Amino acid sequence: MRFFLVIISIVTGLQQPFFAQSTEDVFKLASTRTMNMVRQLKDSTKIPVTQKADGTIQWANLYDWRSGFFAGNMWQLLEYTKDKAWQAEARRWTAALEPLQYFTEHHDLGFMVYCSYGAGYRLTGDEQYKKILVQAAKSLSTRFNDATGTIKSWNTFKSWKDGTVYSYPVIIDNMMNLELLFFASRVTGDPAFRDIAIKHANTTLQNHFRKDFSSYHVVCYDIVTGKVLARETAQGYAHESAWSRGQAWALYGYTVMYRETRDKKYLRQAQGIARYLMNQPNTPKDLIPYWDYHAGNNTYAPCTPNAEKYGKGEIPRDASAGAIMASALLELCDYAKINEKKKIVAYAKQILESLSSPQFLASHQESPFYLLKHSVGSAAHGGEIDVPLIYADYYFLEAMLRMKKHS
Ligand code: GLY
Repeated sequence: MRFFLVIISIVTGLQQPFFAQSTEDVFKLASTRTMNMVRQLKDSTKIPVTQKADGTIQWANLYDWRSGFFAGNMWQLLEYTKDKAWQAEARRWTAALEPLQYFTEHHDLGFMVYCSYGAGYRLTGDEQYKKILVQAAKSLSTRFNDATGTIKSWNTFKSWKDGTVYSYPVIIDNMMNLELLFFASRVTGDPAFRDIAIKHANTTLQNHFRKDFSSYHVVCYDIVTGKVLARETAQGYAHESAWSRGQAWALYGYTVMYRETRDKKYLRQAQGIARYLMNQPNTPKDLIPYWDYHAGNNTYAPCTPNAEKYGKGEIPRDASAGAIMASALLELCDYAKINEKKKIVAYAKQILESLSSPQFLASHQESPFYLLKHSVGSAAHGGEIDVPLIYADYYFLEAMLRMKKHS
């Protein structure tokens, strides 16, 4: 059956459902789709992030948290194909992000700058890229506060519960910004960036997690006393539920923390999160999670009418959460004992097989631009439901690259 689908896809120019059988298939498709976006957008300040209902590209400007992923995809294309044409495009789209090095308005600089400039530096050794990364780490560090022991995520957060506006919210996603800080300490020899990352990770470990290793999305702090004022959700189903992408960010973040510090408490945390996710009773057979592990579960009170709407009927999946989780697991397995490692790799492999199947890999008709369909941006806000997302593609490519050494 698989073979038959592949032949149909090749003969008809990918008009039929596409079944990627290998890393090669996925990267070929990524080359075609990424080039389609480059041709369509031309201007590198318009950065593709998702697809509109009419099938056209939704783009964002450089200050959007997703701005580094498109260039990041091109660097991954260069890494896999070694085709220099990708280096030229990756450089062009990365250069458009240069002003970000001075940006201090939210916490997402790690995503924006490390997936783009970080990859560029790793692959080219360009000294200018290093300077920009260090300056970005300085900018991110301005959001750290000693009293809370964390980097502030957003400038404010308005509670779905009671409308309270909090001025020091920290979201679990913030764990993904710490890799940039470790990089900056490594290349400058200044431990200050790394110290901030460790303090942030320790505070988050203490305040963001429940006993079962699931994580709250948002924790709000008092900036003077550092006390936790609230634990809620912004994008999940319920305040006490497990928003799927948030859990994947936590898994990825603590795996990176162990890589960077070799402190066993981070490994135990990442392993605990992995166990929680891999043993979730409410995971579909193909292992691509619903947008929230508890969406539609009536022991949890939905936080918004939109969350409630997407907890009924056919509950949307979040392919992006699956891709991030697969990529994180494929690093975590390197730190596991042999039996555990086998289980982790098998789980990640099954996720990647599902993402490579017609159920999640978009046909040309479904999207000439993105690889994966069926992701969710924010169901609570009612936005980007069951759509392609640029970061789903980014972590899918990263996971496929990481899977190579296990195939
Ligand atoms: N803040 C990143 C996300 O929506 O996952």
